[in-house]
Amino acid sequence: MNTAPVRTDTLDLIGNTPLVLLEGPSEAAGCEIWGKCEFTNPGASVKDRAALWIIRDAEARGELKPGGTVVEGTAGNTGIGIALVANALGYATVIVMPDNQSQEKMATLRALGAKLITVPPTKFADPNHFVHTSRRIAEETENAIWANQFDNVANRRAHIEGTAPEIWEQLGGRVDGFTCAVGTGGTLAGVGLGLKARDDAIRIALTDPHGAALYNYYANGELASEGSSVAEGIGQGRITANLEGAPVDTQFRIADEEGLEWVARMLREEGLCLGLSSGINVAGAVALGRQLVADGREDARVATILCDTGFRYLSTLYNAEWLESKGLPVFDWLRSD
Ligand SMILES: Cc1ncc(COP(=O)(O)O)c(C=O)c1O
Repeated sequence: MNTAPVRTDTLDLIGNTPLVLLEGPSEAAGCEIWGKCEFTNPGASVKDRAALWIIRDAEARGELKPGGTVVEGTAGNTGIGIALVANALGYATVIVMPDNQSQEKMATLRALGAKLITVPPTKFADPNHFVHTSRRIAEETENAIWANQFDNVANRRAHIEGTAPEIWEQLGGRVDGFTCAVGTGGTLAGVGLGLKARDDAIRIALTDPHGAALYNYYANGELASEGSSVAEGIGQGRITANLEGAPVDTQFRIADEEGLEWVARMLREEGLCLGLSSGINVAGAVALGRQLVADGREDARVATILCDTGFRYLSTLYNAEWLESKGLPVFDWLRSD
């Protein structure tokens, strides 16, 4: 029998997440598809890892001093991770986020004690973009750091030093493929680099939502996007510092409808309530698994990231009116008629 681990520091609850074999996706791919259960982190998302590494790195470099403030621009999950880690270490948190993100994330950030500032969504080139606004606030606040998750490579180190070796150990040193979507790129680049360092033959795939520019970048060298996605936390239009040198071998583009289908199947068939980026990741993992099988690798093992809990999206993904308003299919069990 496995004994659940004992911890003497709550911050040690971040990472070392379980890896679970996903039955439906494995059947669909014809090989093993494994999901890294990042929703089991204290902040219920993969971003707790980046938050911890960024704050520890700022402390180590002497930039973050006792009583200091951590400021960040975030779609939500990084802010939740930062607020929890900052609370545990005695820092204050200021979070800037676009006002089109889920109400649950905003309520959560306020509940955790973060100061929350919302701004209208706008282009990255606009100085009022949430990322630039957060940098300005950090510069204007005494004894504050700007977490800068997009271009601070302490983010991807969390995955080089944490997520990648965990997956490698959990699969007994035999991994054939890994894929996930990109927000900052910390997870894809970090896990990709960490796994390739152990076995260069592991196929690393980008799974991009529509509306993001990276699928085209890795396919033909051009940052260009088509369509749009309602997925939160993913969809990148530039090569962030975290993405630089990411060892991407192949790429897939997944529509929200396909991601949602996997969100529905994960809930109804596997008992996991997840966000849309997880559904998109599972769809990408199935595509990667099928590609490996087509290349003669019938025993392939593919890992992906189950990024966050679906409880964060009760008013959006799991709400019939919201899905209808976005022109997306409504899950059968949400229909009142
Ligand atoms: C729900 C969700 N999924 C995926 C990601 C992407 O992870 P990364 O920033 O490491 O690319 C994020 C990042 O914010 C997220 O919030």
